[in-house]
Amino acid sequence: MFNKKSITDIDVKGKKVLVRVDFNVPIKEGKIKDDTRITSALPTIQYLLEKGAAVILFSHLGRPKDEPDPQFSLAPVAAHLGKLIPNPVKFAEDCIGPVAEAAAAALKPGEVLVLENTRFYKAESKNDPEMSKQFANLADIYVNDAFGSAHRAHASTEGVAKYLPSVAGFLMEKEIKYLGQAIDNPARPFIAIMGGAKISDKIGVIDNLLTKADAVLIGGGMANTFFKAQGYPMGDSLVEAEALDTARELLAKAGDKLRLPVDMVIANAFDNDAETKVVGVGPVPDGWRILDIGPETVENYAKVISTAGTVVWNGPMGVFEMANFAKGTVGVAKAVAASNAVSVIGGGDSVAAINQSGLSDKVSHISTGGGASLEMLEGKILPGLAALLDK
Ligand code: 3PG
Repeated sequence: MFNKKSITDIDVKGKKVLVRVDFNVPIKEGKIKDDTRITSALPTIQYLLEKGAAVILFSHLGRPKDEPDPQFSLAPVAAHLGKLIPNPVKFAEDCIGPVAEAAAAALKPGEVLVLENTRFYKAESKNDPEMSKQFANLADIYVNDAFGSAHRAHASTEGVAKYLPSVAGFLMEKEIKYLGQAIDNPARPFIAIMGGAKISDKIGVIDNLLTKADAVLIGGGMANTFFKAQGYPMGDSLVEAEALDTARELLAKAGDKLRLPVDMVIANAFDNDAETKVVGVGPVPDGWRILDIGPETVENYAKVISTAGTVVWNGPMGVFEMANFAKGTVGVAKAVAASNAVSVIGGGDSVAAINQSGLSDKVSHISTGGGASLEMLEGKILPGLAALLDK
């Protein structure tokens, strides 16, 4: 099923190996707030080092405006990586050109070089062949382990693969296997849980999941748009007016596969200390807004989840950042953790929610990709994966 060559299919001894990682991690005042994406790339990095390669890592960080900007520097990431592994970790203040070339040329087997942010050049997101060639000139082999960026056709994720023997890293392989299996060959019943604020972000995903899953459970702000489409006034709740027709279409074609909340927590302000009420589905009074799914919905969803063979979850059930509106998300997280299903969690917010609930070790796979995991669930081809050598 995973039909791409990986680092175990290629001889790396004595070679310079250029590894695209997704080190796009949250950094505040030079401190890394969550290093999951760095630790998730360690198996690939360590394997290559043990096999006698010189490892050149490169990544984007954030969305700088196509020019060098110190707040988006990968220097703190290189320093952090240096604390996680015993090998020397060097840093080059450019990702192409003489600085990168000299650093790459001087790198010895067993050493690591981290290049500066690839998005300091416009050519990166333009997938400019000249930039891809410059990357390729740094090394003998290209490895893509950046699952989180695999949906981008950029010079560092797609273009460079045209100029070097190119294979997948362990993280890429693991992500594709879990998400691919869930979508193409799920143990049934296959239950998808979709939350988050907007339907418009996830129409393609819901559409595709309705053809694959046995039930799609809806929560979060996007439920409001479905309720509004059913004709209920939503008070001050978040509603996507431009997605109402889409919501109607999805409701019409989904039949009873698409499950909506039966009750919800409403509040008289967007504030953790606001006055709250649990109400059944119906008109929301002016001055009130829906901020979470209600307890009966949690119970219903938990029952469905307990029967699942496969669960895929993307997006929180409510405003889980506020303790008083986190019960829906935490309730669903507990149900997923308690089930015997193969469970795959994708997307930044649902991952934060499962971590916050202390249940991350109870799920089968937590994806490091937000957009990339959604595009996979949508059934799209990921350019960063497609560019690699077939088995
Ligand atoms: C992500 O955080 O989802 C990836 O690193 C991709 O980042 P991007 O959306 O800026 O391309």
